[in-house]
Amino acid sequence: MIRNVAIMGATGAVGQELLKILEQRNFPLQNLKLLASERSVGREYEFKGEKLKVELTCKDAFKNVDLVLSSAGASVSKEFAPIAVDAGAVVVDNTSFFRMDPNVPLVVPEVNPEDIKLHKGIIANPNCTTIMMVVALKPINDLSKITRIHVATYQSASGAGATGMAELKQQYQEIVEGKPVTVKKFAHQLAYNLIPHIDVFTDNGYTKEEMKMFNETRKIMHSDVRCAATCVRVSALRCHSEAISFETERPLSIEEVSNAIKNGEGLQLCDDVANNVYPMPLNLMGTDDVYVGRIRKDLACDNGMNIWIVGDQIRKGAALNAVQIAERL
Ligand code: A2P
Repeated sequence: MIRNVAIMGATGAVGQELLKILEQRNFPLQNLKLLASERSVGREYEFKGEKLKVELTCKDAFKNVDLVLSSAGASVSKEFAPIAVDAGAVVVDNTSFFRMDPNVPLVVPEVNPEDIKLHKGIIANPNCTTIMMVVALKPINDLSKITRIHVATYQSASGAGATGMAELKQQYQEIVEGKPVTVKKFAHQLAYNLIPHIDVFTDNGYTKEEMKMFNETRKIMHSDVRCAATCVRVSALRCHSEAISFETERPLSIEEVSNAIKNGEGLQLCDDVANNVYPMPLNLMGTDDVYVGRIRKDLACDNGMNIWIVGDQIRKGAALNAVQIAERL
């Protein structure tokens, strides 16, 4: 029985969204604890009409806590998730630290809810772009097994957290005011730009973000599907977009794929090109589902299709997925 819940990283972009979603979905809890670094201790946030003070993330913070929703970065999870588990809590972790650990289930409730029960204290929340992609591909994979995926992502500043969004806004402001542009969070100026580089580069030339899409997709879908990704940071504020090309064992029609999306869990079909209707980040901030449009045959391979998806990375790509896992617990 979950009574006492803690949000670790409560002051961040995902932490703040967790607070909203727990209230919006009336998550059944008795006490909520907000944890962050010493920089934020004492800061107040409202939850269901009550003011809650941020407390320090430390060893003693997890006493009597049943559930930790954690989003404070990999090093914080590495240190504190095992401490929380030892104290008796279940941790739903938003960071990359435990995702590929064979003892930790990696869960998207629309795709592999059955894996939740395999947990030994920690359940990992996948990478945001992977979550959105597997939600869209699940009903299609049920029609015919997906064997190959090529994806290019268009990831907004929100993927770099609250400080990433603040930096993008600041850069636009500085440009308008004719001042030198501040570049801290991203490798280059993001305003008026896009950067084909998210997370660090690995030995094979792909970034870690791109390799997350390869590895996490296989783990979540229980599949040997191969996914080649190019992950790009774009100057949208919030909501990630993805151009996905996939190949299936048998050829699928556009109608079959459209119907699968229309009836799929957590999905909205948004595909009416005659009226210029397709998903766009600007329109979808704050929404829960993954929106799918531009469904068409891939002209470059026989059993291939192309789709375009957009989802709110802070919600379905992170906070909402974590709360949905917790609800199923
Ligand atoms: P704080 O605001 O006190 O720095 P985001 O991903 O949006 O940048 O948010 C990161 C979250 O992780 C924030 O809540 C931040 O708290 C928290 N955090 C960062 N470093 C630590 C740390 N060393 N210990 C605990 N919380 C941390």
